[in-house]
Amino acid sequence: MRRPMVVANWKMNTRASDAYILATTIRNAIAPIEGIEVVVCPPSIWLGEVSDILKKDGKVNVGAQNMFYEAEGAFTGEISPLMIVDIAKYVIIGHSERRAYFYENDFIVNEKVLAAIKHGLTPIICVGEKHKSSPISDAIKQLNEALTHLPKNRFKDIVVAYEPVWAINKGKVASMDHIVKAMIKIREVVGRDTPILYGGSVNTDHITDLAKRPEIDGVLVGSASIRAASFIKICQEWAATKSFKGCAA
Ligand code: PGA
Repeated sequence: MRRPMVVANWKMNTRASDAYILATTIRNAIAPIEGIEVVVCPPSIWLGEVSDILKKDGKVNVGAQNMFYEAEGAFTGEISPLMIVDIAKYVIIGHSERRAYFYENDFIVNEKVLAAIKHGLTPIICVGEKHKSSPISDAIKQLNEALTHLPKNRFKDIVVAYEPVWAINKGKVASMDHIVKAMIKIREVVGRDTPILYGGSVNTDHITDLAKRPEIDGVLVGSASIRAASFIKICQEWAATKSFKGCAA
């Protein structure tokens, strides 16, 4: 059975003291919540500190927001899977902001996915069509490219996040019809063992509606995840609703 998940993507936000307070507040609030997996992805510079804070209770997992695909070497400014693996369980790969601002293409995303798996990290693979008018098949193409050379028996070791680019950071989620359509198409590619998340302006207003859909295993939360109160509410709602509805097999 796939696990319901809530993933926080802090992006390039938080100074040291903010990260400390946010991580501590989240850890304490999540401690009594059962039935979901919560993952926090802070900026890489705070990975160690945030991981130390979150590990004290053991309930919240940590993820990196990005990594390079080489294990070590002369790659100034990059962080490698070997640096992350002792600290974090997850790594976000192929986020649309990486694709747009740092020119990551499908080849690079695929290399990163394979490297994450090779080194024992669970990649959260982000895919999504660019414009509201773009077809969902653009996201499916990205997904197929990202999974090149990954044997099907490893699909249980990945997470897919469907994030229509046009719904990211816009304050408005995609329509439920659209999200469910995409979830079904992604499920056809990855099979039954891969958790599939929705991301794009997730906030407290519509979290219950999203959680009610058995096709959606989890959410990837950006802006609402750097406000402790809203992120905690999202986790509480996800746990409360999913414990009744579960995830579709
Ligand atoms: P948002 O970001 O929730 O701020 O739209 C989501 C994401 O980019 O992962």
